[in-house]
Amino acid sequence: MTSLATKEGTSYGPELLVRLRGGRRRAQLEDRLRELVRDGTLTAGSRMPSSRALAGDLSVSRRLVVDAYAQLLAEGYLIARQGAGTYVAQATAAADGAAPPQVSRAPQFDFFPGAPDLSSFPRSLWLRAMRDVLRVAPDGALAYPDARGAPELRRALSSYLRRVRGVVVEPDAIVVCSGATQGLALLGRALVTQGVTAIDVEDPGLPPHRAVLAYAGLQVRGATVDEQGVDVAALRAPVVLTTPAHQCPTGVVLSPQRRGELVRWAREGGLVIEDDYDAEFRYDRAPLGALQGLAPDRVVYMGTVSKTLAPGLRLGWLVLPASLIDAVVQAKALDDLGCPALDQLVLARLLETSAYDRHLRRARRRNRARRDALIAAVARELPRARVSGISAGLHALVRLPRAVDLQGLVSAAEQRSLRVYPLEFHRIEPAGEADALVMGYANLSEPAIDEGVRRLSEVLREL
Ligand SMILES: Cc1ncc(COP(=O)(O)O)c(C=O)c1O
Repeated sequence: MTSLATKEGTSYGPELLVRLRGGRRRAQLEDRLRELVRDGTLTAGSRMPSSRALAGDLSVSRRLVVDAYAQLLAEGYLIARQGAGTYVAQATAAADGAAPPQVSRAPQFDFFPGAPDLSSFPRSLWLRAMRDVLRVAPDGALAYPDARGAPELRRALSSYLRRVRGVVVEPDAIVVCSGATQGLALLGRALVTQGVTAIDVEDPGLPPHRAVLAYAGLQVRGATVDEQGVDVAALRAPVVLTTPAHQCPTGVVLSPQRRGELVRWAREGGLVIEDDYDAEFRYDRAPLGALQGLAPDRVVYMGTVSKTLAPGLRLGWLVLPASLIDAVVQAKALDDLGCPALDQLVLARLLETSAYDRHLRRARRRNRARRDALIAAVARELPRARVSGISAGLHALVRLPRAVDLQGLVSAAEQRSLRVYPLEFHRIEPAGEADALVMGYANLSEPAIDEGVRRLSEVLREL
């Protein structure tokens, strides 16, 4: 008596592989289902087949299945949802004393610096734009895409970047990539093919970026960051990766003096990779154009929708000097032949119709309120801490009143369902103590920010 093949999406529920042989069939069925939950074959939250379907497939009475389900419900392996079927429970309180399956719980208060408010992703705008795209796109739009990106998106991006960031750009200088991260990987490889061997990156900086560049074959070296931004005088490699608008992670805005030095450095032969990852969000300062606008032949501009829409979209772009276009396009084609066509067309449509601008205005207001909530909560709960890096972006730097043990801090926070990100995580050579936290505020509601900071103050008192 073997498996069940039922139609998913109907009242029958999903398929399930169960075999019953010989007598004591109800006990056999119960044992087998317990086993499937414990070993994770049936994952928490997944739907069980209806009792009718399972009974039919196993050629047993429906009563037998109903009784087996009832037993497992009582043991905590399954849960019933009124009128909506039977599901595998989150974690079992099994009566037989077996260890419940490990279910990892996301912390309630996660100050992850890299995420926008995912709950306000403009779903209906995206859906409407996708409908429009599907209605009007010719069949050819579904063929293998242009490796550089959909022409519609490159056109829309070039006018957006010129208008909003002062980037000097034509559509042919843009390569759309799977997030800025892929852009960096492609660029790394292109630079290696052109004989570059080393790159300077900001220290502290983003660890995955260092890893991507090293994987591309470059020697990655740290460049100091101080209260003016990256120390240009200390650059040694011919290429530097930098975040001038809002240094990641300290939040420092590159000072006018350093900006001048960096542009001079580039004009004298250096190559700057300008990661403009969160520049759309600036709050109390006048807009500052991208550095690329001052030296377009010596600056690669890198952008993304990961902070403005959602990192899960995996859409970003490079604006390249002429000398790098062919090598990067070749790397992109060899990597994946281009980004998903429909998503690119949807983004193009949002940009062209100004829906993207409207979304940004709303997001800016919300982010500013959350940033203000973070500043107020720190002033209230941790009056001796100092918040900086607040004029832009989606995260701030909170300097703690004193250094504390790094792992102790992280694990004491986890115990309170709080996740924090010490600045040390971003250093090339981290120390064992934390004296500052990089706190993302955009993906937490204001009450959650208040409560998270309150818990942080408790943790710090105990350490
Ligand atoms: C400094 C920096 N650059 C770029 C990105 C975006 O990368 P991607 O577009 O690959 O998501 C992030 C995301 O957290 C970031 O922190």
